Amino acid sequence: MAWLSEPVVTVHQSFLAAMAEFAAEGRGQVDERSALGDEMRDFGASWTTPAGFAAYVAWLRTQPVAEASRPAGWVPWSPRWWIDGDEYLGRIQIRHELTPKLLEVGGHIGYDVRRSARRQGHATAMLAAALPILAAVGVRSALLTCDNDNIASRKVIEANGGVLEGERNGSLRFWVPTAGR
Ligand SMILES: CC(C)(COP(=O)(O)OP(=O)(O)OC[C@H]1O[C@@H](n2cnc3c(N)ncnc32)[C@H](O)[C@@H]1OP(=O)(O)O)[C@@H](O)C(=O)NCCC(=O)NCCS
Repeated sequence: MAWLSEPVVTVHQSFLAAMAEFAAEGRGQVDERSALGDEMRDFGASWTTPAGFAAYVAWLRTQPVAEASRPAGWVPWSPRWWIDGDEYLGRIQIRHELTPKLLEVGGHIGYDVRRSARRQGHATAMLAAALPILAAVGVRSALLTCDNDNIASRKVIEANGGVLEGERNGSLRFWVPTAGR
């Protein structure tokens, strides 16, 4: 059964296969803008060796702490992976606060499920499992944004109690209660 894990080295081979699936969809290309794309560009070359992958995992695990080293403009965040045994199915990034830019687009949470694992309820379950992490850092209502034509993501958000605020620059904006659901 899949569960929300901190990043772990045990899923290395499956992680590489998942990243190949994302790359085949165009993720990580120079003009692709997403947190996953940023990580593919910044760290992708190091992932193939066990030591490089372990260093990436170790870096991810520092990210919730305020003093951690992170790219300019990034806020403390909790990276989590959705895994089943040694299988990496997806990822969710949980940002502990909003910047003016995140308030505009991006919000508190972003997620990706590898193509071969889609339409099995993983993103819906992963978001449900992630919301208490935001509640624990004091965020009562999470902002989630998605492209206005991203039907799957909209369903994931609405299944988790998301209330539509409106649309801005082609993105739908939802507020999702993090606790007491
Ligand atoms: C969006 C994404 C995370 C959904 O992951 P998933 O694990 O397939 O989602 P779920 O299985 O929980 O499906 C949620 C709902 O969306 C529906 N759905 C999934 N893919 C769909 C698609 N391509 N078209 C229409 N509906 C779709 C499911 O049937 C389900 O509907 P239901 O609740 O009525 O049964 C995944 O497609 C993905 O990683 N896409 C690329 C990255 C992305 O868009 N991330 C979100 C950015 S805001």
